[in-house]
Formats: sequence, structure tokens, C-alpha cells
Amino acid sequence: MKIQIINGPNLNLLGKRETSIYGSQSFEDFLATLKKQFSDTTIEYYQSNVEGEIVNKLHEVGFSFDGIILNAGAYTHTSVAIHDAVGGIKTPVVEVHISNVYAREEFRHKSLITSKCAGMLTGFGMDGYVMALHYLTKIKKAV
Ligand code: DQA
Repeated sequence: MKIQIINGPNLNLLGKRETSIYGSQSFEDFLATLKKQFSDTTIEYYQSNVEGEIVNKLHEVGFSFDGIILNAGAYTHTSVAIHDAVGGIKTPVVEVHISNVYAREEFRHKSLITSKCAGMLTGFGMDGYVMALHYLTKIKKAV
């Protein structure tokens, strides 16, 4: 079972960035615990601050991997290109946000991506990635 995690812009700063909103753990530290917890699963991680690179990664893995966990960061609210990329691939995508986007500024209340995803998790901190993995594992077993 192969899962790709894709984090978008500014998420390379997790642990340093607005810690009252995003917490003080780096994604690399979190990823190490996630890989231990899901030791039967191959978890690949990719982060980019560049919209087109996220589109390219979705194309690259979107026909062969079993699941994608996508936190597109601010591009969630603006990117028609990522919406179209998620819509154009075969692999199921779970959208994750660390913070509760609906409890924040109004411009974060709209996601251009959710309609093309299996579902969306928002506000559960890093646990959103864990929940997404549980879901993708479950649907893989059901096939
Ligand atoms: C985020 C929420 C977005 O609105 C924001 O631009 C981010 C992170 C989250 O994980 O809570 O960069 O996707």
C-alpha cells in the first residue's frame, strides 16, 4: 500500500510558523511517528511552495498510488489548477487542514479542492493526517 502526502506552501515552516495555530511540531518529526504507526504502509512525503509542482506531483502519483493526502495550504482557496489536477487523476485524495479553516478568516471558508476529494478533515491538528490514513487503509482493504 502506497500513500503520498503532499503539503503545499508554507507548510515547510511547521513547528516554527504561527505555533498557536499550527502547533510546535515539525512535519518531519510527525512523519517519523506516522511511519512507525503505519509500518505496513509506504508513506512518501512531498512539500512544495510552488503551485505547478504540486500539480506535477499529483499527475506523477495519481495513477499508481493507493491514496493521496493533500494539504494544499493557501492554494486550497485559490487554485483552479489543483482542483483540475485532483479531478483528473484516479487515486483517491483526502484533503487535510491542520487548523479549522471554518473558524478562521472568511477567505479560508471556501475550498476549490473539496468537491474533487473523497472528503475533507479540518481542525484536528496533525491527527487529520492519521485519520486520512485510516480511511485510505480501510478503502484499500475493501477493494
Ligand atoms: C492550512 C489552512 C490554510 O488556510 C492555510 O493557508 C495554510 C494551512 C491548514 O493546514 O490549516 O497554509 O491548510
